[in-house]
Amino acid sequence: MNILAIETSCDETAISVLGVSGKSREIKFEALANVVLSQIKIHEKYGGVFPALAKREHQRALVPVLKEALAQSFGASDYQFSVSKKFSKSQISKIKKLLEREPELLKQFLKFIPAIKKPDIDAIAVTYGPGLEPALWVGINFAKALSEVWGVRLIPVNHMEGHLFSSFARGKEFTIPDLQFPILALLVSGGHTELVLVKKWGQYEKIGETKDDAAGEAFDKVARMLGLPYPGGPQISKIAKSGKPGICPLPRPMLNSKDFDFSFSGLKTAVLYTIKKIGKLNKQTKADIAREFEEAVSEVLVKKTIKAAEKYGANIVVSGGGVAANERLRNNLSLTLKQSLPAVSLLLPDKEATTDNALMIAVAAYFNRKKKIPAGKLKANGNLSL
Ligand code: KG4
Ligand code: ZN
Repeated sequence: MNILAIETSCDETAISVLGVSGKSREIKFEALANVVLSQIKIHEKYGGVFPALAKREHQRALVPVLKEALAQSFGASDYQFSVSKKFSKSQISKIKKLLEREPELLKQFLKFIPAIKKPDIDAIAVTYGPGLEPALWVGINFAKALSEVWGVRLIPVNHMEGHLFSSFARGKEFTIPDLQFPILALLVSGGHTELVLVKKWGQYEKIGETKDDAAGEAFDKVARMLGLPYPGGPQISKIAKSGKPGICPLPRPMLNSKDFDFSFSGLKTAVLYTIKKIGKLNKQTKADIAREFEEAVSEVLVKKTIKAAEKYGANIVVSGGGVAANERLRNNLSLTLKQSLPAVSLLLPDKEATTDNALMIAVAAYFNRKKKIPAGKLKANGNLSL
């Protein structure tokens, strides 16, 4: 089967086509297309993501991104200019209704979609939460309109479940072997920081989460304090390389608490006090703060992950979300796990797969392929939980 997946939960407009073949134990996945269009350049100057702006950009980008994804998957000549089939009056009125809040998208949809042959797609997956609701709705409405004209069913996907699968969706062709559950997932993004116990696919238990800011959010805010652009994570990592350890000590919030929860808001405030105390920052002091901040965040994340893996008897630890691209976190996690729990294996996503993409949504959709939802019932849920 071929799954077309759409992801618009934050500031990436992404569409992927995943081919799935083979039988139960020998399932092969092939990423036929994995197109990601980032809006970072647009949000950068505001220092964060504006929902209304994100919505507008998704509206503009979805049809061009779809065009690219179909061309990569099936070759432009195969699907383009072949059958130009006019929509019926009732189809047009349905599409107009579905995309009434996205006029720009509607215009492009009515121009492009009737001019192409229905691609070889068996299901359309779409992220329905968590995320920015205005942004999620654009992807959902687009998915509904495509499902209507192509007569293909919809599979709703939780964005965090997507991140959870990103450790497996590696390279163009991949398989997901029979795994020994439970798996422990450390999900760390701009909006979430959680430890999730995977008892089997689809059976998740959140065992800990942040009480305030997400790890990525803390990276973004601290970057801003240091005068670095959005998104802050990669910027902090870059300057932290020349930072010296232990120069400006920062706290490790909740490091020894008995639960598996996190808190990063106090750490952010501690950075603010440090900056005030130093007064005028130069390149080296900025690097030292960045280095210490990175150490503090990764130390807490790693310690709780290892503790949870031990307590719940995890066989595998996986990670996902933008912060999982952090080199220090990856190295610390890998080293500490090897030392403390050598029998537990670690699977980390490729760095490109840590940020939002639709390939992870397509893989999660495959594992949710039996989930049936009528288009009318599908709604965005900004606070959707695993
Ligand atoms: O998963 P993601 O792309 O979007 C959400 O679903 O939120 O994560 C984005 C977050 C941002 O806060 C960004 O600063 C952070 O991931 N990030 C990083 C790194 N790369 C991205 N944080 C730390 N180190 C990095 N190398
Ligand atoms: Zn994400």
